[in-house]
Amino acid sequence: MNRIWSSLRRQCDDEFAVRGLTSRPDWPVFAIRLDGEFQRLAELFWALYGSRPDFALQLVRLVEETFVAYERRDPTFRNRDDQMPPESGWFASSSQIGAVAYVDRFAGSLEGMIDRIPYLKELGVTFLHLMPFFRSPERHNDGGYAVSSYRDTNPALGSMEDLEALAHALAAAGIVLAADFVFNHTSDEHEWAKAARSGDLEYDDFYLVFPDRAEVDAFQNHLRDIFPEVRSGSFTWSEDMQAWVWTTFHSYQWDLNYGNPAVFCAMANEMLLLANRGISVLRLDAVAFIWKQSGTSCENLPEAHTIIKAFQSIARLACPSMLFLSEAIVHPDDIAAYIGLRECQLSYNPLLMAELWEASATREVRLLSLSLAKRHRLPAGCAWINYVRCHDDIGWTFADEDAAELGINGHDHRAFLNDFYMGTFPGSFSRGVSFQYNPANGDRRICGSAASLAGIERARLEGARLEGARLEGARLEGARLEGDSEDLDTAVQRVLLLYGIAFSVGGIPLLYMGDELGVTNDYSYESDPAESADSRWVHRPRWSDELATQRHDAKTVAGRLHSGMARMAKIRAANPVFGSQGLVVVDPGHHSVLAFHKQDTGKSLTVLGNFSDHAVRLDQQTVSLLLHGVRGINLLDGCLVMPDEDLPLEPCAMFWILS
Ligand code: GLC
Ligand code: GLC
Repeated sequence: MNRIWSSLRRQCDDEFAVRGLTSRPDWPVFAIRLDGEFQRLAELFWALYGSRPDFALQLVRLVEETFVAYERRDPTFRNRDDQMPPESGWFASSSQIGAVAYVDRFAGSLEGMIDRIPYLKELGVTFLHLMPFFRSPERHNDGGYAVSSYRDTNPALGSMEDLEALAHALAAAGIVLAADFVFNHTSDEHEWAKAARSGDLEYDDFYLVFPDRAEVDAFQNHLRDIFPEVRSGSFTWSEDMQAWVWTTFHSYQWDLNYGNPAVFCAMANEMLLLANRGISVLRLDAVAFIWKQSGTSCENLPEAHTIIKAFQSIARLACPSMLFLSEAIVHPDDIAAYIGLRECQLSYNPLLMAELWEASATREVRLLSLSLAKRHRLPAGCAWINYVRCHDDIGWTFADEDAAELGINGHDHRAFLNDFYMGTFPGSFSRGVSFQYNPANGDRRICGSAASLAGIERARLEGARLEGARLEGARLEGARLEGDSEDLDTAVQRVLLLYGIAFSVGGIPLLYMGDELGVTNDYSYESDPAESADSRWVHRPRWSDELATQRHDAKTVAGRLHSGMARMAKIRAANPVFGSQGLVVVDPGHHSVLAFHKQDTGKSLTVLGNFSDHAVRLDQQTVSLLLHGVRGINLLDGCLVMPDEDLPLEPCAMFWILS
């Protein structure tokens, strides 16, 4: 350790000795960790706050609070710290299946979640992200992402004790609990925000507050609007403070000022409290926005990485099994920058998500194949969270330069995809809803449930229309009805195909609860004043007993999707090759067919996905090349695939061929 850091370390030890900390029973273990971690933490903290006179004081206090959090850590979780450090890479195993759900919508309450554990187990779930369950403003809460207290639950969902009981029940069932760390902002009802509003200068400095409009404008010119339909600009005038407050998202979500070390320390404390409640994975919300600097877009700045690494360093001291999951919905290069063993071990994979939908619309896999070949590989020990839908909108986050390589104009292509998924493009199978149209640049994003975007809703409507016509005695030769409509079949296969790719590329597949039952868009948000301005509510499903019952009936959409996903989960868990991160994209000689190979301990997996809504035939020569001349077994139906025969692929069919 260099001299500065060793003298700082001594300062800590002396201070702690005076206060009797070093004679406490947990100190020796903590001291060993500190030996390994101190310099890294100090350097990160220095990079952020080295120019401040209170630098050393803040650092010493931070380490002390981290020690106290370690002392309070429950033996179950200490045990997990020993068994499951990030370096063990447990999360990359093929047995990991993720799910995400709203507590109220999926289970009523935190207590009700315990009763849903068997349901989750049917789908092989080992990793559960609960949407934000913290106290937040009654009405303006951005679906829980405006947090008023990280220490209290939303009383409608239950208490912190209920959360702890749930964490233990999940741990006993082999399910790891993930929760949000909404650390870019608090709600304007958080006690820090209230104190700031009442004129307390200590807390005023917790936020980014500007009395002077000129200062605001200097920033504003470089920023993008995240919710342009709600308001323009990233600042909100506070009457109480007679100043502008930085609010990247909604006006009631106040961005925290990480230029102030007290904010970092306060949030580190909240993080440690969450860890000690039994949360093993923190989803780092809106990571791109946490550091601001004038003259820049204030997204993905180097200091954002330093802050996350410093939080990670704190976690290594007090709760070293804690994983970070990055939520960065930005350019693929910027997404990759957050991923690392010492930063975020896990990351959402918004590129795969967007391009699965892109390939479905175009019936062409070239952009998807290019991205998988070029951008799928991660640093060792890290993993993607592969999802098809989540609580947020779909933004078309592919890189324009990737598209250009294929002669695709990014801007025009996004416009096409938006038209397609809103259902306005002729021949579209989708029924999606526009999100945050920005007339200034024509941007928009798309909302809708997987079932509605993939064609299930439209196929049913068409089925109902035909049924109506039939009842009226019209002649409808060749027309089919709901149960056996080809479009409905294809739509169901499409949902399974998209999920099947997420299950097989490597990383943790994430089931968005509701998709496994084919829940379609819920338009009731339109008549709820608290939700009507935010079309993301269209795809935030409520549990339905009726659909859940149908999951046992193979004749229903719910039954086909549920059994299909449960089967995929089982196959994945039983075959370690699915966990391997490396893949080789191959060209199967058809523009609609995605093909890749994976290899693990002598087994070879070939994944084929037909993104066309027509049947496709791969000729014998291609099949032989794909399978390296040896026969394989399609794990999805147990049938043999021979290298010397043509291979027909039904619309939206998928093959998982093991050889
Ligand atoms: C994240 C959430 C999103 C929320 C935003 C602001 O991106 O996923 O739902 O609106 O952060 O907290
Ligand atoms: C933007 C942000 C993302 C957020 C989303 C909400 O895409 O980058 O963090 O979740 O908006 O719609």
